[in-house]
Amino acid sequence: METFIDEQGGRVTVSFQKDSFAQKASHVLVICRFYDQWLLTKHKERGWEFPGGKKEENETLEEAAKREVEEETGARLKSLQYIGEYEVASGGSFVKAIFYAEVENLLPKEGYFETNGPVLIGGDLLTLRFQDSYSFIMKDKVIELALEKAALLEKV
Ligand code: GTP
Repeated sequence: METFIDEQGGRVTVSFQKDSFAQKASHVLVICRFYDQWLLTKHKERGWEFPGGKKEENETLEEAAKREVEEETGARLKSLQYIGEYEVASGGSFVKAIFYAEVENLLPKEGYFETNGPVLIGGDLLTLRFQDSYSFIMKDKVIELALEKAALLEKV
């Protein structure tokens, strides 16, 4: 487990083993790959970030991941793999499960739930993510560690 402080002063602890925290994951973050590009969503306040959000009571984490990606970007997934999870503590605390997904197709939508729709990024996201258009969430070390894991899965 590794702990660090995010841009907003939240305490973030990341683990690559399931159920590492006292509370179960209630949120998801989905690292989305569409051929040789990353698929992000334009969060209305925070800026560009991987799609995700809060799991609803009656769904599994996998179902929540698929739903959030579709709502925020219009993408359907062809694969979804668990990578790890992290706890965010800033006042209250919650745990977010991290998934790696390959996109099957990306369909334009009339409107996007809570976001301004998809953005496709080619190139080195590890460097690009520090630009102003990106959300503070993308600047977390979690993203660097998750992209390392995703690269290993991609080679399988
Ligand atoms: P939506 O806007 O509906 O997607 O929800 P959210 O993702 O902002 O989740 P929530 O409102 O539960 O977030 C509570 C606090 O945690 C807010 O201050 C968020 O900015 C922050 N937060 C949410 N997700 C992350 C994350 O992945 N990493 C970090 N470091 N902070 C996060």
